[in-house]
Amino acid sequence: MTPLRLILVGLGARSRVWQRVIADNPDAQIVAACDPDPAARARAAEARPDLPIGAAISDIVGVAADAAVLATPPGGRERQIEACCAAGLAILAEKPLADDVALAARYVAMAETAGIPLIVGLNFRYLAVTQALRELLRSGAIGRPEFGRFLYERWRDGTQGWLNSYPLSMDHPMLWEQSIHHFDLMRFVYGTDAARLQAHTFNPSWSMYRGDANVSALIHFENGMCVTYQGTWQAGHEPMNFDWRTDGTDGIAVQRAMFGDLGWAPRMQAGLTEVPLPPHEPWITDAAALLRMFVATCRGADPECTGRDHLQSLYMLAACILSSERRASVAIPEIAEMAAA
Ligand SMILES: NC(=O)c1ccc[n+]([C@@H]2O[C@H](COP(=O)([O-])OP(=O)(O)OC[C@H]3O[C@@H](n4cnc5c(N)ncnc54)[C@H](O)[C@@H]3O)[C@@H](O)[C@H]2O)c1
Repeated sequence: MTPLRLILVGLGARSRVWQRVIADNPDAQIVAACDPDPAARARAAEARPDLPIGAAISDIVGVAADAAVLATPPGGRERQIEACCAAGLAILAEKPLADDVALAARYVAMAETAGIPLIVGLNFRYLAVTQALRELLRSGAIGRPEFGRFLYERWRDGTQGWLNSYPLSMDHPMLWEQSIHHFDLMRFVYGTDAARLQAHTFNPSWSMYRGDANVSALIHFENGMCVTYQGTWQAGHEPMNFDWRTDGTDGIAVQRAMFGDLGWAPRMQAGLTEVPLPPHEPWITDAAALLRMFVATCRGADPECTGRDHLQSLYMLAACILSSERRASVAIPEIAEMAAA
């Protein structure tokens, strides 16, 4: 079968992962790219002198292609989504789909009307540890999961050259850029959507981010699951502390690192039993699996990580913002109605 022909939109930090995993996948190839930044275009041209590279998607959308990977900041994707829908290109968009929930809902509707798959790059779903945790809970090993604690405490120096810098000036950078992954992981692993939540967002006094770098939330899910969440990009300590514990009727499951380290125990067992996981290269193995899913989707397989599904995580994000402003609990249907209005 001929490889899936991809247009790479955006040639910044995240595009490096995509360039590598696409090059390593015989079922996909990059046939064109674009970025308004001349330096980014020059870097890409040096690596691939044969590649048509434009400043905007409108410059290259005439190249024969099957799909586009949007590795652009979430704000300002209107033209990119419109161009893909008009050209019949399937879309793999980096998370979050947009920086506004109503806009994201509009993109989902546009893609559905155009009849093209719109998939969101939720690579953490494809980590072996995520798949193993989900299976562990489904196996009944810890009984029925009823509550959890999700901690993500990271000192993220957003001024480092190898990282994107736009989050420094975003409203709610932690929520839009990072917690969105965590909300998606909770929904995926627990197999349920959020029903309501109460949140408080704030910025520590030393924060280098303009918008809030801290999020604390108590999240109630439709299946009765309740999770205490704490996320920060401005922790008082490096290295990162990741700790996701789930308590069930008969025991616990604990993930102690972002890319692995999974254990579980029945209630009366003192230590944790480790869950063996296959070798993994952070950021690469997960993106490679996500790409395989996208290629399969473009060839007719059932899609995963759809834009429509992603809206449920965006509702959680918007509910956190509203709840913090109101200092009150917010029900998810209220957000869904606002997004649809
Ligand atoms: N899934 C993950 O683990 C992960 C990790 C990092 C970043 N991301 C996501 O990837 C996306 C991009 O982040 P990044 O780190 O690469 O940011 P970045 O700022 O490093 O790069 C973005 C690039 O997009 C370009 N761009 C801006 N507008 C464009 C347009 N209209 N058309 C074409 N190119 C345009 C910019 O010039 C820049 O080169 C974001 O949505 C981010 O959240 C995801």
